[in-house]
Amino acid sequence: DPETLETWKVVSELAPLHEAAEHLKSSSIPVGFPTETVYGLGADATRSDAVKGIYKAKGRPTDNPLIIHVSDLTMLRSYLLPAEGEADPIPNIYRPLIKRFWPGPLTILLPNPKPSKLAPEVTAGLSSFGARMPSSPLALSLIQLAGVPIAAPSANASTKPSPTTAEHVRYDLDGKIEIILDGGPCQVGVESTVVDGLCDPPVVLRPGGISIDKIRECKGWELVEKGYKDASEVGSAAPKAPGMKYKHYSPKAKVVLYEASFVSNASDVEVGILKNATTNVYPSIGIVRTKTWAEWAGIFQSTQNLRASYRYDSDISKYAGTMRCGVLQSQHRKLANLFEVTLGTDTSSIAHSLFSALRALDHEGVQTIYVEGVKDSEEGSIAEAVMNRLRKAATIIKT
Ligand code: TXA
Ligand code: MG
Repeated sequence: DPETLETWKVVSELAPLHEAAEHLKSSSIPVGFPTETVYGLGADATRSDAVKGIYKAKGRPTDNPLIIHVSDLTMLRSYLLPAEGEADPIPNIYRPLIKRFWPGPLTILLPNPKPSKLAPEVTAGLSSFGARMPSSPLALSLIQLAGVPIAAPSANASTKPSPTTAEHVRYDLDGKIEIILDGGPCQVGVESTVVDGLCDPPVVLRPGGISIDKIRECKGWELVEKGYKDASEVGSAAPKAPGMKYKHYSPKAKVVLYEASFVSNASDVEVGILKNATTNVYPSIGIVRTKTWAEWAGIFQSTQNLRASYRYDSDISKYAGTMRCGVLQSQHRKLANLFEVTLGTDTSSIAHSLFSALRALDHEGVQTIYVEGVKDSEEGSIAEAVMNRLRKAATIIKT
């Protein structure tokens, strides 16, 4: 119960934690820190110069608001004003959610009082602000030691996949920040679910670590609506041009996403690969697998023109999971170099390693990443968040 959440064992003996907290209190350069979802790029939410530092380091458009991270409800309440006739400044609608999901991957929108103790840059001019209590003990300790809410977006360069290891943060922000607190790989791997309970009916603004089904089970949230659109729902299933406004979470490589019922058509894979193969310059392709080998191989093998097969030569184990390397061949003719990552079959492991896999494949210099999608209708799972991120990263979507 977050209401009675006592001081967890603050890992206060850790010198780096103290150093990061001191830096947060005084500097205008943000700090990279782990949460259970993804790494955040944090700054004292009460100081304008500190919050401006986040936008600067990340290259984030200043009209995209940040969320604040709190270590306890007393801290959150001190940034709110009670509505007339209410004793608790936290709106009633959020009580069941907070009780059930905090600390954890859920962000709620709250009315920003006037005047507000938060720096105006946090809310980007909106009358509400987003807040969450993370469950990562390092994050909680950092906020508590700093004594102020930490404003933080994900610690990636804008448009890149969110970082789930300290190394990802360093890769994106090297030279722009001074401290990254390393807490190992993030447990969840995708960002928090963002909900707005200030409107009626309430809406989910971003799918994330907590599934919509679980939110719907809470009192007052039975009629919650989906307030976001995936790229595939915006237009037809036609190819989406790179650089469209939906592009986000994107590696350098082109991402081709196969939705759950993929076996019917693989012409893009064929055309892309065959065109390059005739020039004798072999393309490198990445494959992100979420199913069994046999099911996935169907993408290549169920076509009439291309009887392709894999040959694996070696494993690369420098990344979080193991990446298998080999060639894609047709009648013993080499078609492409192959880099393949298997995310596992349950949605939690898929979410946990997804961004890491996209980054690892980029690192190997592949031109195209073929991703096998998962069914986003799975009850209570974060498959919806996984597919939402993939659809935003993809430039071509097959349905
Ligand atoms: O898991 C997470 O939420 C991570 C970790 C670091 O906590 N943070 C994160 O922050 O993903 P960011 O800034 O990348 O995403 C926050 C989302 C953005 O889509 C932003 O537009 C939305 O929340 N948001 C923030 N304040 C808002 C507001 N007042 N109204 C509507 N949307 C808001
Ligand atoms: Mg982000």
